[in-house]
Amino acid sequence: MRTQVAIIGSGPSGLLLGQLLTEAGIDNVILDRVGKDHILGRVRAGVLEEGTVGLMEKAKSGARLHAEGLPHDGFSLAFDGRDHRIDLYGLTGGKRVTVYGQTELTRDLMAYREQSSATTIFDAANVQPHDFEGIAPYVTYEKDGVTHRVDCDFIAGCDGFHGASRKSVPEKSIRSFEKIYPFGWLGLLADVPPVNHELVYANHPRGFALCSMRSMTRSRYYIQCPLDEKIENWSDDRFWDELRHRLPEHHAEALITGASFEKSIAPLRSFVAEPMRFGRLFLVGDAAHIVPPTGAKGLNLAASDVHYLFSGLAEHYQDRSNAGLEAYSTHALARVWKAVRFSWWMTTMMHRFPDTSDFDQKIQEAELDYLTHSRAASTALAENYVGLPY
Ligand code: FAD
Ligand code: DHB
Repeated sequence: MRTQVAIIGSGPSGLLLGQLLTEAGIDNVILDRVGKDHILGRVRAGVLEEGTVGLMEKAKSGARLHAEGLPHDGFSLAFDGRDHRIDLYGLTGGKRVTVYGQTELTRDLMAYREQSSATTIFDAANVQPHDFEGIAPYVTYEKDGVTHRVDCDFIAGCDGFHGASRKSVPEKSIRSFEKIYPFGWLGLLADVPPVNHELVYANHPRGFALCSMRSMTRSRYYIQCPLDEKIENWSDDRFWDELRHRLPEHHAEALITGASFEKSIAPLRSFVAEPMRFGRLFLVGDAAHIVPPTGAKGLNLAASDVHYLFSGLAEHYQDRSNAGLEAYSTHALARVWKAVRFSWWMTTMMHRFPDTSDFDQKIQEAELDYLTHSRAASTALAENYVGLPY
């Protein structure tokens, strides 16, 4: 098989890139090691920046997002028994975020791809990029015991943190930076109305909590937990009790509980691989970087990488210029590091670390108090939260 761009990974970054390329008339093939249902079974991010929404529109995949996504003009920071609203819209001169689950965004992109003639190969085993330092790269994979080969001009490694793309780069050509946090997030999804019409990020001596949502009838809640916590130890009742402890009284009293239908634990990590381009192989999204979820940046960073790579590929095919592709790594990494810094800062300010003392707790509360009462500090938070420009 031959294509112009071989895309490894059918998560949000691979699908979004594929859809933009298809719309621009650039042939592409997507390969994923698992099937569609497996991909759609993952519950992950929920907050989209305007840039991400704009890319969904550009990919002609934004109709349901516009109909069902919830525009949010602010969120709350809760600490020391009170909460303060951060007026995203007012502080940023009219910017907002959209609450729409990654699962739904992925479902929309898959549905649009199915309507096109673009090829997607699911359940492809042993996907491997080859010869990307030369001019004739290719990808091999196995299906039903047979090895296949996809010849291409470029390879986009959109295969997440554990994928094959980054691992195929010789160690001497890549540098990685990593920070592992000593806790995880226990997340729960339930068909109950959200406790507040906007998100609530809570700092509490018992640990961080986040009240999010997927719709006005479906809530997504998270609580900080130890890294070695076992999901079996968390009945719904225990989760709801712990969440109530960590919220200011007026939210705890308003909390509507119910049976969960998803519960999972995610570890928290910051990771960046540099560079993001190796000849004709480009790393995109989680394949190149991971942020802790606190600032809701993971999916949005994957989207900004797609923006830079798509622009470079379109320039290559339409204008016969490689300038955008050559600048891909520099442009993407400049934005990535700012989001890595923001996510690390939000995580550090909002969580209880194993060695957090009463002094450290007071310092966190003083920082939150300053943040919520200084217009300059609130503006810096708001402009990062809604997303820095591409
Ligand atoms: P992925 O979504 O990881 O997609 C990669 C795709 O590649 C997958 O479909 C996978 O099956 C495929 N693949 C992997 N290996 C191979 C291979 N060898 N060959 C072929 N295909 C392969 N972000 C937030 O902003 N907020 C959150 O609350 C949040 N929660 C998260 C919870 C968890 C458990 C995780 C793991 C991530 C979370 N994130 C969150 C981050 C966000 O979901 C990611 O940033 C986003 O999914 C990145 O998209 P991606 O397409 O780059 O990678
Ligand atoms: C969600 C996840 C986040 O990490 C975040 O900061 C906000 C919302 C969510 O899953 O809804």
